[in-house]
Amino acid sequence: MADSVIAIDGPAASGKSTVAARLAGRLGIAYVNTGNMFRAVTLAARRAGITQAADCTAEKLIPVLERLDLDYERNAEGNFELRLNGTFPGEALRSPEVAALVSPVATVGPVREFLKRRQREMAGHGWLVMEGRDIGTVIFPHARYKFFVTASPLERARRRLAQEGENFSGATLEEVAKAIAERDRIDSTREIAPLKPAPDAVTVDTTGMSIEEVVDFIVGRMEHEA
Ligand code: DC
Repeated sequence: MADSVIAIDGPAASGKSTVAARLAGRLGIAYVNTGNMFRAVTLAARRAGITQAADCTAEKLIPVLERLDLDYERNAEGNFELRLNGTFPGEALRSPEVAALVSPVATVGPVREFLKRRQREMAGHGWLVMEGRDIGTVIFPHARYKFFVTASPLERARRRLAQEGENFSGATLEEVAKAIAERDRIDSTREIAPLKPAPDAVTVDTTGMSIEEVVDFIVGRMEHEA
């Protein structure tokens, strides 16, 4: 199964989602954004009244998981489209409220276990690009290809500000950089599955590179390793 997975990990706003989607498109294979799965759990938690980081505990989130109706529909392009309670959550996943709570939600063991099972089930239907924080380290430690996509903090803040659909309601570059740094801190210092490159991942520092250049680089490396 894992031999047909391309794992792409990296910090918030590193451009990895765009790169992963573009790579999958170029290779004609499916793409899974696991950050959206954590965001969907966060949206469901908020709807259940959990709105503070201090409330992101196993005790409070297990009932949310038990009621969670999270599934995937494969669209015409073969991509997995996430559905929450029967509808496509779309832009709600990218709201500042969800963005602010998703890292604390993602530290909770039962949330990670629940999503790990879902993510592993997605392999085995052909080649797949899966993108997240722990794909090459925990979900598919035997993935055929592994990349760790990053960029300087300033560049990441600029990219996040420029990103369509992410509504920062007038936030400054400095504020966005601070919010990203806080998510990095939580993601990389958590006990379970912290954000870090797998020992056998190829790190790509995309600062100053265009999306196409990054995708070209990744495809080049894959051809080299094949
Ligand atoms: O990629 P993203 O910014 O949409 O991810 C949202 C959050 O979800 C991120 O701050 C940490 C968490 N996450 C995770 O812990 N593991 C993953 N595989 C993907 C995302």
